[in-house]
Amino acid sequence: MGALTTPETTAVTNSTIATQMAHRTIRAFTSEPLAPEVVDTLLDVARHSATSGFQQQLTIIRVLDPAVREEVHAASGQPYVGGSRGELLVFVVDLYRNALIRQRAGADLEPLERTNLFLAGMEDAVIAAQNVVVAAESLGLGTVYLGSVLGDPRRLIRALRLPERTFPVLGLLVGHPDQEPQYKPRLPRAVTCAVDSYPELDEAALEEYDARVEEYYDLRDANRRVDAWTTQIVRALGQGPAAQSPVLEVLHEQRLALR
Ligand SMILES: Cc1cc2nc3c(=O)[nH]c(=O)nc-3n(C[C@H](O)[C@H](O)[C@H](O)COP(=O)(O)O)c2cc1C
Repeated sequence: MGALTTPETTAVTNSTIATQMAHRTIRAFTSEPLAPEVVDTLLDVARHSATSGFQQQLTIIRVLDPAVREEVHAASGQPYVGGSRGELLVFVVDLYRNALIRQRAGADLEPLERTNLFLAGMEDAVIAAQNVVVAAESLGLGTVYLGSVLGDPRRLIRALRLPERTFPVLGLLVGHPDQEPQYKPRLPRAVTCAVDSYPELDEAALEEYDARVEEYYDLRDANRRVDAWTTQIVRALGQGPAAQSPVLEVLHEQRLALR
């Protein structure tokens, strides 16, 4: 089983892999802001991520204005998004810039309305965000992704003044950690990795994993251990504003994924 206070080890390691294995979400930050050169570095790392078709369909918005931050906080509904702790970045799938470029050249805009191109933008956004997470963690910083910003996508779109053909897919807070959470165990390789074809569900491995997850102590709910993983999937999946928000409608309002 092993304690959840040290990261899992890997067969091969180096400083990059050790950083990745030591990932844990941080939801409390000190009041110390990130140094400007650190923010620049994280944005440069994001810009250098792989990008589908070399299309670079991503814009990252730093939220500095407290009024805008309050809107993001309201859209996410999560307490640690409010206030001023942690640098707040919003990863925006951006097909608008390429639409302008094509429009100026008199090229057809129809490809930008296909789901394929929207998905390519999503892929770019998520890859860039994860590169920022790895870079930040390698500097000893903590991060929390904010899928919850999609609790109210229209509010976020208004707050960030996003044009058509853009969509704010993820928020990310990066800051100096002010907590020491446990490492949350992941499903074992036997369950999530396969060779050549889809695997049979390994029930024994799943049961063992459930028992491990029950040992995890969630700082967000300080007085009790968490439910077994399968119980969480049964009870919590699909709950909460972000999981119930009218994403497809909003994508269409933004002229994305129309066909
Ligand atoms: C796409 C994505 C969206 C997430 N959104 C939120 C969020 O809105 N709020 C939050 O507190 N954590 C969020 N998380 C963090 C997950 O809850 C966390 O990664 C998961 O519980 C595993 O815990 P760990 O990162 O500490 O290992 C998100 C993670 C991902 C990958």
